[in-house]
Amino acid sequence: MNDIDLPRLRPGFLWGASTSAYQVEGGWDADGKGPSVQDARTDHPEGTTDFKVASDHFHRYAEDVALLAELGLKAYRFSIAWTRIVPDGDGPENAAGIAFYHRLIDELLAHGIEPIVTMYHFDLPQALQDKGGWGSRATIDAFVRYAGILFREYGGKVRHWLTINEQNMMILHGATIGVSGEGSGDTQRDLYQQNHHMLVAQARAMALCHELLPQAKIGPAPNIVSVYPASSAPEDVLAAADFSAIRNWLYLDVAVHGRYNPTAWSYLVKRGIAPVFAEGDQTALAAARPDFIAFNYYFTHTVAAPTGSSADVGHTGDAGISIGEVGVFRAVRNPHLKTNAFGWEVDPVGFRATFREIYDRYRLPLLVTENGLGAFDTLEDGDVVRDDYRVEYLAEHIRQMQLAAGDGVDILGYCPWSAIDLVSTHQGAAKRYGFVYVDRDEFDLKELRRVRKDSFFWYQEVIARNGVPLP
Ligand code: BG6
Repeated sequence: MNDIDLPRLRPGFLWGASTSAYQVEGGWDADGKGPSVQDARTDHPEGTTDFKVASDHFHRYAEDVALLAELGLKAYRFSIAWTRIVPDGDGPENAAGIAFYHRLIDELLAHGIEPIVTMYHFDLPQALQDKGGWGSRATIDAFVRYAGILFREYGGKVRHWLTINEQNMMILHGATIGVSGEGSGDTQRDLYQQNHHMLVAQARAMALCHELLPQAKIGPAPNIVSVYPASSAPEDVLAAADFSAIRNWLYLDVAVHGRYNPTAWSYLVKRGIAPVFAEGDQTALAAARPDFIAFNYYFTHTVAAPTGSSADVGHTGDAGISIGEVGVFRAVRNPHLKTNAFGWEVDPVGFRATFREIYDRYRLPLLVTENGLGAFDTLEDGDVVRDDYRVEYLAEHIRQMQLAAGDGVDILGYCPWSAIDLVSTHQGAAKRYGFVYVDRDEFDLKELRRVRKDSFFWYQEVIARNGVPLP
């Protein structure tokens, strides 16, 4: 389908940008904060920083919000650190930590920026991890209690809530993200039981949100991408559908419909790794209804039929992450796509395809909570950062998002990653995504000065014009 006009985005479209607590805040033990699994990590790749200081947003949030207001953001998607609110996950509340997010939210509202809150972004309290983490059903109760505290405290100020960031990536690539460390001994069976507990926790939190805050909207925030077959061979088509069911629909079918995707469930059963349901789980899952679906999008996958040998595993699109599963699917490079400096395939048209696929399946409004380009930016004399490669990446994706809107997809907003530079999940501070440069190196914090990049001024115009022109 060719398009000639700039399709209209919905009135009040939420032009935003994203961060997460442990990657941007720093202040890792400030004001009574407890350690999270991210603070406890010791597996940072050589030459990359930990998250102790990050971008020091905890101390500089007012300066940062002023910059986001200057950027013209209508919304800011950030996460709340569970360990600031309840330092050990299920014990006493921490008034100072609760006060921090009141200050941040008030500052945003004072600047006319809508807060979009992720309740949990990869940073489980370490104290809960020590007691079995998501393998323990007690963590479900701890999460629901934590959710209740957030609704009580911030419910009068926050309209949009996100439950769990990229639950599917935590299950599929947990070691890389630092949520199930190397040598944790977790089997696939353990992981899918943990996954089930998270799904129940999410369902209960959504139901609680609707009960306590009838005006609020809440949704899941997985990483969802189209999966292409490597060819028109029916076996490749089937492998792509299988991987999509395991990677994408397992998570969204439960979140939206309260039941497991049949293909994903049969995969779990055949491998002997299907989760055990406790009494009440099915009712809890069925009772929950998200108001929208948030999703993160960076690249698509291309998949061929499995060979049945170890050759099925090991395609790496990103340092340290291997995908493919013996007898299920084999990931291949897509010859039609270019890659970025980190080996990630870049696929703006796949963004449009992903929008349509999700909307077709669930008919719920969609909110993009991450999309962006990690790159080694250079700060030049005169405080200039020429990140035209990022502008190109974002422009192409925004264009395809607009085309998706023209295709009939209901899109609530777009929050690219990231609002300001922060520390990458597993590739340090040098891998930058922000509109604002934060002047620090991996181990030299310098003054953590904020500098507007070229993409800052470009995005400012995009927001003012409500989109980019079609080519
Ligand atoms: C998403 C996460 O997976 O991708 C973010 O939600 C993360 O936390 C982002 O930072 C980019 O990945 P990375 O590894 O480049 O930081």
